Amino acid sequence: MNEPNSDDFVVVANRLPVDLETPTDGGPPVWRRSPGGLVTAMETVLRSNSGAWVGWPGTPDVTVDPFEEDGLSLYPVELSSQEVEEYYEGFSNDTLWPLYHDALIPPTFDRRWWRTYRAVNQRFAEAAARAAAPGATVWVHDYQLQLVPRMLRELRPDVTIGFFLHIPFPPTELFLQLPWRKAIVDGLLGADLVGFHLPGGAQNFLYLANRLFGLPAPRGTSSGGTIDLGDRQVRVGAYPISIDSAQLRERSRDKAVRERAAEIRRDLGDPEVMLLGVDRLDYTKGIDVRLEALHELFAEGTLDPEKVVMVQLATPSRERLTAYAQLRDQVEREVGRINGEFARLGSPVVHYLHASVDRDELLAMYTGADVMLVTPLRDGMNLVAKEYIACHPDGSGSLVLSEFAGAAAELRRALLVNPHDLEGVKRAIVEAIEDDPAERKKRMKTMHAHVMEYDVARWSRTFLEDLRATSGAHVTASGS
Ligand code: ADP
Ligand code: G6P
Repeated sequence: MNEPNSDDFVVVANRLPVDLETPTDGGPPVWRRSPGGLVTAMETVLRSNSGAWVGWPGTPDVTVDPFEEDGLSLYPVELSSQEVEEYYEGFSNDTLWPLYHDALIPPTFDRRWWRTYRAVNQRFAEAAARAAAPGATVWVHDYQLQLVPRMLRELRPDVTIGFFLHIPFPPTELFLQLPWRKAIVDGLLGADLVGFHLPGGAQNFLYLANRLFGLPAPRGTSSGGTIDLGDRQVRVGAYPISIDSAQLRERSRDKAVRERAAEIRRDLGDPEVMLLGVDRLDYTKGIDVRLEALHELFAEGTLDPEKVVMVQLATPSRERLTAYAQLRDQVEREVGRINGEFARLGSPVVHYLHASVDRDELLAMYTGADVMLVTPLRDGMNLVAKEYIACHPDGSGSLVLSEFAGAAAELRRALLVNPHDLEGVKRAIVEAIEDDPAERKKRMKTMHAHVMEYDVARWSRTFLEDLRATSGAHVTASGS
C-alpha cells in the first residue's frame, strides 16, 4: 500500500483523522484522534470502505511519510508554520469560517492569506493526484479545500470528483462580499457533484454559479440541480450528514458505559437534573448563550442550584485566534460567575472541562444527562445532537436545539429555540426539565427512530451513488 496511484477511493480533507501531538512534558510525539465532526463522520465511512486519506497531520513543519493506520492509507501533506498561519488560521478560519457562519465576527479579507490558500490547495490537489488510481473516485471535504476540485481535474481528468461542505453555505449577499468569490465557485465547479447539508445551501450555490458565470439557469428541484458547463455537467445537492447511530446505541447500552453514567451522576452529587453541553470551544456554538440562560434561571429562582447541575465539555480549538481566546475567557468568566453566586463548597453548579474526553466517557455523559443543550448561533449540522439521541433508545432525555443548527431541519421534535432569544432559551430549558414524561418520551422516541434510519452509512452511500451516476457525464465531457 501507499504506492503512487494505487487507491480507488481517496478522501481529501485538511486534517488526517489523527493529529501528531508533541506532549508538553517533552516526550516523543504521539498520534491522537483529530477534533471535529468531519473526522467523526469520515472515519466511520473510510473504515467500512477501504481507501486512502490525504490530509495535514496537525503540526507545522513536520515531514511524515505515507503510512498505514488501522487499515487506512494515510498520505500526510506538510504545512509550514507560515502556511498554518495564513492558510489554516488565516483564510480558512478567520475569513471563510466567520463568513460562512453568518459573519458572527467580521471576516478578515487578506490578499496574502488568499495566495497561501491557493498554494496550499494546489499542494493538496497534487497529493490527491499522486494517491488516486486511474479512474479513481476522489472525495474532497470542506471549506479549507474549495479550490481542490478544479485543480485536481486539471491534473487528473480521469478521476471522478465529489465535494462536500461540512459547514453552512452562506446567504448569497454574504458570499458576494468575498473578493475571491468567482475563484471559489469556479474551484467547486471542478467537481462532478457538490454536496451541502441543506437544500438552502445547494440553492445558494446554484444561484451564485448562474450569477457569477452567466451559466444557463440550472435544471433542478428545491433540493438541488444540475449545472450545464457545456462540456460537462455538475450536479449540486443536499446530503444531511449523520453518525454511526447503531454503533453509538449499542455502546451506550454497554454495562460499563451505564455504570460509568451512574458514577458520574453520583460524583455530581446525585442532582435531580443533569444538563449537558458538548462542543468544540467555538463562538458559533452558543456556549455563552446557554450559560447566560442558566445564570438567569438560577438568579430568578426558577431553577434550584441544589437540584440542577450542568456539565460543559469544551474541546480546545483554534487557540491562537483572538476570537477563540476571547470566547474562552468569556465562557470561563461566566462559569466562575455562576459557581461564585450559586455553588456550595465542594458542589459546583457548572462543571466545566476544557478538554476532549474519550469516546466511552462521552457516551456515559450522554447516557447520564437528562437534558442536552445544543444552542449554536449557526452550525452546518451538529453531530452532538444526533449522538445524544442515539444514546437514548428508551426515550429518556430531552434535547434543546437551536433552529440555526442544520440538525433542526430533521429533529423537529426537539425543543427548538432561537438562540438570540434568551427568554425563549430559558423557557425551553424549563420545559425540558418539567415536560410531561410521556410527551418527552414520545418526542425522543420519534427522533431516535429518525437518527437510526438516517445514519452516516446512508449519507455516504447516497452521496457516492449520486457521484457515480455523474461519471457518465464526465466521460462524455472528455471527448468520448
Ligand atoms: P464540529 O464539527 O463543529 O466540531 P459537531 O457537533 O458536528 O461539531 O461534531 C463534533 C464532534 O466532536 C462530535 O462527534 C463530538 O462527539 C465530538 N466532540 C465534541 N466535543 C468533544 C469533547 N469535549 N470530547 C470528545 N468529543 C467531543
Ligand atoms: C469543523 C469543520 C472541520 C474541522 C473541525 C475541527 O467540523 O467542518 O473541517 O476539521 O471543525 O476544526 P479544526 O480547525 O481543529 O480542524
